Amino acid sequence: CVQQATPQVLAGKRVVITAGPTIEAIDPVRYLSNHSSGKMGFALARACIAAGAEVVLVVGGKVALETPIGATRIDVRDAAEMLAVSAACVEGTHPALPCCDDEHDHDHDHHHDHDHHHHHDDTPRPADIFIATAAVADYRTRDAAPQKIKKTQDTMALELVKNPDILATIAANYPDLFVVGFAAETQDVEHYARGKLVAKKLDMIACNDVSRTDIGFASDDNAMRVFFAERYNKAAVTLDKDSKANIAQALAALIGALLPEHTP
Ligand code: CTP
Ligand code: CA
Repeated sequence: CVQQATPQVLAGKRVVITAGPTIEAIDPVRYLSNHSSGKMGFALARACIAAGAEVVLVVGGKVALETPIGATRIDVRDAAEMLAVSAACVEGTHPALPCCDDEHDHDHDHHHDHDHHHHHDDTPRPADIFIATAAVADYRTRDAAPQKIKKTQDTMALELVKNPDILATIAANYPDLFVVGFAAETQDVEHYARGKLVAKKLDMIACNDVSRTDIGFASDDNAMRVFFAERYNKAAVTLDKDSKANIAQALAALIGALLPEHTP
């Protein structure tokens, strides 16, 4: 048996993580997006895998980061696709998911005495944890133009409509899930973070103060305040400025510690 350096606080847990920006089409060659690097989500994927979890990364936009070893990665474009793929991954029905628990079957030495052909257990296994690190575009164009828009006008207006809230939708539809949000705020960090925790029915939210110039988006460093749903009766935790890898490890440990107390 391999000696594990990281405590296996998420052993056997299935985790779905959204990461990166979303891309909202304007026409076939142009889009709206943002500067999210995807680094925090990828760091969390590594930390969860190191803690024993099976991880699916649902990645928006054009994130060129190397896929964490052991993660299942599904690339998507816009918020609508990110929501549909996330829901299918949470339910365990997405075709890109590793299909069956063959390893477990061998471990437990099952006897298939009722039939002699190889039997897959097709029952989808839902996820245990959903972590939303993606910088989802809040708005998309009402109708993406089917053809490239020509510069025939001197001014042009894009009409935007609100995107679905992926995190809030997943939290509402799958009450058994342990749900973690992120928030980047420039002011009143605790006030806005707690507002999102309650409004989106999250178990936990990790926030960074992006008014600080030394951390955030493209940086390899981050610092966070973590808040927990009222029912856990757990005081906020401060994670001091550190590498995104170490911050991610600390967040995975917090999730692992809280999971046994999770009740829908
Ligand atoms: N989120 C999401 N889907 C959206 C918008 C946000 O899943 N359409 C998730 C983000 O991944 C993050 C959390 O919700 O985990 C908070 O995102 P944030 O942009 O801070 O909050 P919003 O609810 O979009 O509010 P605002 O941008 O107005 O602060
Ligand atoms: Ca937003």
